[in-house]
Amino acid sequence: MIKLQINADIKKGVINRNIYGHFSEHLGRCIYEGIWVGKDSPVPNTDGIRNDVIEALKKLKIPVLRWPGGCFADEYHWKDGIGPAESRPKMVNTHWGGVVEDNSFGTHEFFRLCELTGAEPYINGNVGSGTVHEMQEWIEYMTFDGLSPMSNQRKQNGREKPWKLKYFCIGNENWGCGGNMRPEYYADEFRRYATYVRNFGDNKVFKIACGPNDHNYDWTEVLMREAGKNMDGLSLHYYTLPTKNWADKGSSTEFDETYWFKTLKNTLYMEELVTKHSTIMDRYDPEKRVALLVDEWGTWYNVEPGTNPGFLFQQNTLRDALVAGINLNIFNNHCDRVRMTNIAQIVNVLQSVILTEGSKMLLTPTYHVFDMYQAHMDAELLHTAFDAPGYTFDSDSIPAISASASIDSNHKIHISLCNLKPDSSADISFELRGADCSRVSGSVLSSSAMNAHNTFEAPENVKPAAIKEMSVKNGKFELKLQPMSVTVLTLE
Ligand code: AHR
Repeated sequence: MIKLQINADIKKGVINRNIYGHFSEHLGRCIYEGIWVGKDSPVPNTDGIRNDVIEALKKLKIPVLRWPGGCFADEYHWKDGIGPAESRPKMVNTHWGGVVEDNSFGTHEFFRLCELTGAEPYINGNVGSGTVHEMQEWIEYMTFDGLSPMSNQRKQNGREKPWKLKYFCIGNENWGCGGNMRPEYYADEFRRYATYVRNFGDNKVFKIACGPNDHNYDWTEVLMREAGKNMDGLSLHYYTLPTKNWADKGSSTEFDETYWFKTLKNTLYMEELVTKHSTIMDRYDPEKRVALLVDEWGTWYNVEPGTNPGFLFQQNTLRDALVAGINLNIFNNHCDRVRMTNIAQIVNVLQSVILTEGSKMLLTPTYHVFDMYQAHMDAELLHTAFDAPGYTFDSDSIPAISASASIDSNHKIHISLCNLKPDSSADISFELRGADCSRVSGSVLSSSAMNAHNTFEAPENVKPAAIKEMSVKNGKFELKLQPMSVTVLTLE
């Protein structure tokens, strides 16, 4: 029996709702087809944006949405995406499949998507192939209320009042697709560009610097040393690949326990990354003013057979649900420094929460995990103590259980638990200290197959099931976690 103690009297900071953020990129069928179908489409839409996707995202209460990339961001010239759609230039999306980008989805359409879904916009600017002037003008176009060439142009394009824009990142992966820069060079570029990202009126921009790729600790060190005082946030990108082999990452649906284990092990590495990058940041910023934003994360497998390799389209199974649950527990437990994360990408790409095919849409197992974990958004992290048993496979071992707990403003306590073992359940005895609760309810996401997934023929193959309500006596109760499952409990 595993003992899990929840210390409701030891609060460890607020779990920023933006930890449950998303990422939309002009990549494959994410924006076009997945989100934007155009106003004349037979697919029911609002101002060109799919109604089914809007509804699904509203239900998820997505707090923040990053756009337009990714690598695409450092090739994106925002002026191509404003004005009458028929006069917007068509260009080639060189990064992603070499397809035509007709720019029909641009700044106005992105803000409309955010309005319709309730998400806070997070825009990624172009440093790699852009200019300071271009970035300066974009900020002015979006946020300036006075008289200026950019605000006039915005008005001519149908938007009288400026939008509110808080989150803005200055470049993407500038150590790679964003210009192959050295950290010293990018730190100076960041300082220069950030100077001209102005605050107009009461719009205050939260300036984010391009951060490291997985364990590039030198990048974090240099950025914090040279530009820590100029930034509000530093991004981190880390993808879970089952293997370290980019040429053959493994299938999203056809895998055995070897790949299951490796995927979860590589997911748990996020704990080390966040801890070590935070430790470096602590040296330069002990007050933790600068946020760490994991603004790209999730699984990355081989593309689905027969699909465009540049579209990065993959299916999503119960394994992805576990990856989501583990990562979100890690982020919750590091909420003192991690204040936003954005899973890649929201529709039809890597670890997507939604897949579409023509007018059909399905919710992936990852969607259901985000739905179940909603309870943690803006709640206060609670201290938990437990000795996770090991999950040993092929003479390697990882913790078998991942957990986090929080208390919300209605004094309800939420505990999220992942059982990583595919073939054995886990008996847990819970002990709640520092709060009074009398009953437990909850839901579980699991299946009998580790590659279980939803298809357009069987869209509800994997979905959460309610847990039979239990009573709590003297702060204690017991529960058997199903094998390979994600469980979220509410104590009240
Ligand atoms: O998510 C796909 C790509 O991965 C993004 O465009 C880029 O930022 C990262 O390398």
